Amino acid sequence: MNSIKNKVVVITGASRGLGKALTVILAARGAKLVISGRSAKDLEEVAKETNAIPVTVDVTKEGDVANLAKVAISKFGHINIWINNAGLWLPKAPVESLNIKRAHELIEVNLFGTMYGSREAIICMKESISAKKIKKGMIVNIVSTSALQGRAGQSAYAASKHAAKGFTDSIREELLASGISVVGVYPGGIKTSLFDEKKPEDFKDFMTPESVAEKIVQNLEKDQPDIEQVLIRPGQTLNIANKANKTK
Ligand SMILES: NC(=O)c1ccc[n+]([C@@H]2O[C@H](COP(=O)([O-])OP(=O)(O)OC[C@H]3O[C@@H](n4cnc5c(N)ncnc54)[C@H](OP(=O)(O)O)[C@@H]3O)[C@@H](O)[C@H]2O)c1
Repeated sequence: MNSIKNKVVVITGASRGLGKALTVILAARGAKLVISGRSAKDLEEVAKETNAIPVTVDVTKEGDVANLAKVAISKFGHINIWINNAGLWLPKAPVESLNIKRAHELIEVNLFGTMYGSREAIICMKESISAKKIKKGMIVNIVSTSALQGRAGQSAYAASKHAAKGFTDSIREELLASGISVVGVYPGGIKTSLFDEKKPEDFKDFMTPESVAEKIVQNLEKDQPDIEQVLIRPGQTLNIANKANKTK
């Protein structure tokens, strides 16, 4: 078992939803947390509850994400786990009525936010590994089952998440033998404020953020975490096989 106790964990999008649930669970397991989001007030509240260090970050701004890494390093000296969780969604709409400005914003957050976060994590982790401060590091990208299949009315969200999956799979290959492993998490529907603008019809059946966060953390605690974690509710089906590949 790979204990989370005293591990330095950076999380984006921790002001609510899945990111907040991950923060609460990781804090209970004894992690040292640096949490981020745009809403300073919400973040402060989560930080107070979990003894985490809050950093106001817009993940679409490279400088903000670089500052997040800087705060974590100056406070703790290294980063063990970096979780790219910040994300946006768009209500269902046929592609003809897609709001292109909002689609750009969605891709900036869901793809570029994940890229900036992963890049900062890799830079910090490689330095710490070569300085022998840590033996290994882990990047966890919260993607979605929308990265695994196309969905009518969800073209922009699915495109952003398919791209995030391509990025996640590629850096995993790039980091083979580096000591840094990359986990892609593919949840189905979770009851969060992601859907505040318009709730999907089956929202009441969605999983709780706490149950999804618990499964993510349990995977990270394995000696060899699954590199792809598909988390769907009972009865939900996907046109893909649940791969049980292991971290290298
Ligand atoms: N809910 C689902 O059904 C579901 C399913 C699969 C995957 N996911 C993924 O899970 C992740 C978390 O989503 P959630 O369901 O927990 O949604 P949520 O409750 O709306 O939380 C989203 C988080 O992302 C942050 N965020 C959004 N834009 C940001 C930006 N530009 N910079 C920094 N932080 C930003 C928000 O904080 P601020 O507003 O304070 O910035 C918030 O903390 C997302 O990547 C989402 O795509 C969700």
